[in-house]
Amino acid sequence: MRFDILTLFPGMFAPLGESILKRAQQAGTIRIGLHNIRDWATDRHRTADDAPYGGGAGMVMKAAPLAAAIRAVVGEEAPPVILLSPDGEPFTQALASELAQQPRLVLVCGHYEGLDERVRESLITREISIGDYVLTGGELAAMVVVDAVARLVPGVIDGESIAEESHSDGLLEYPHYTRPAVWEGREIPAILTSGHHGEVAKWRRRERLRRTLARRPDMVRSAVQQGLLDKHDLAYLAELGWNGE
Ligand code: ADE
Repeated sequence: MRFDILTLFPGMFAPLGESILKRAQQAGTIRIGLHNIRDWATDRHRTADDAPYGGGAGMVMKAAPLAAAIRAVVGEEAPPVILLSPDGEPFTQALASELAQQPRLVLVCGHYEGLDERVRESLITREISIGDYVLTGGELAAMVVVDAVARLVPGVIDGESIAEESHSDGLLEYPHYTRPAVWEGREIPAILTSGHHGEVAKWRRRERLRRTLARRPDMVRSAVQQGLLDKHDLAYLAELGWNGE
């Protein structure tokens, strides 16, 4: 899968060259292209922003350099052209899975004072927000989207760890333990060393339900509405005192 990122600050993307995304790029499973919008500015000062019509604080990203950058990067294909902005649709695991089906994404990093609205109208196909707070620009948000989408691309990480992780199927994760079996007087749950795979699976499922009910009752409600829980799950939730609301 290929990601193309358009930004005024390519230097902010150094974290994409580390860890799992570094390996995925070396293996060729994903490719990430960084493009400096300023390279498409035509004046001597390489101006990419200007004062807003009508007055007010901050600067606005100019239409022409940004549009030229998007058109050059998009080329002959028609990939989604996604603007990162606090006005966008909320980014969720479901949206990450949807985007991971695409062969290519173009991500445009805006700045909150904004970009010229006409570019939004003519070239942006989708807007994504990573949460209800305002960042200084779309760069960190673009990295969040690349990271969450890239790890769902086949071959980037072990598929089994995706199946049972938080948010992948409407529940949070069960707790994890590794050696030693006793640490600072705290023991691991005995079931994990029992060798009963069925019992371990049942314990993990119950831990997921317990944790989700305690921390994110809203997720329990929507898992029920989506029919993701079976009668054993519902019985256990009832044992935990859940009244269906
Ligand atoms: N740019 C500024 N704030 C943002 C947010 N919350 N999500 C995506 N892009 C942004």
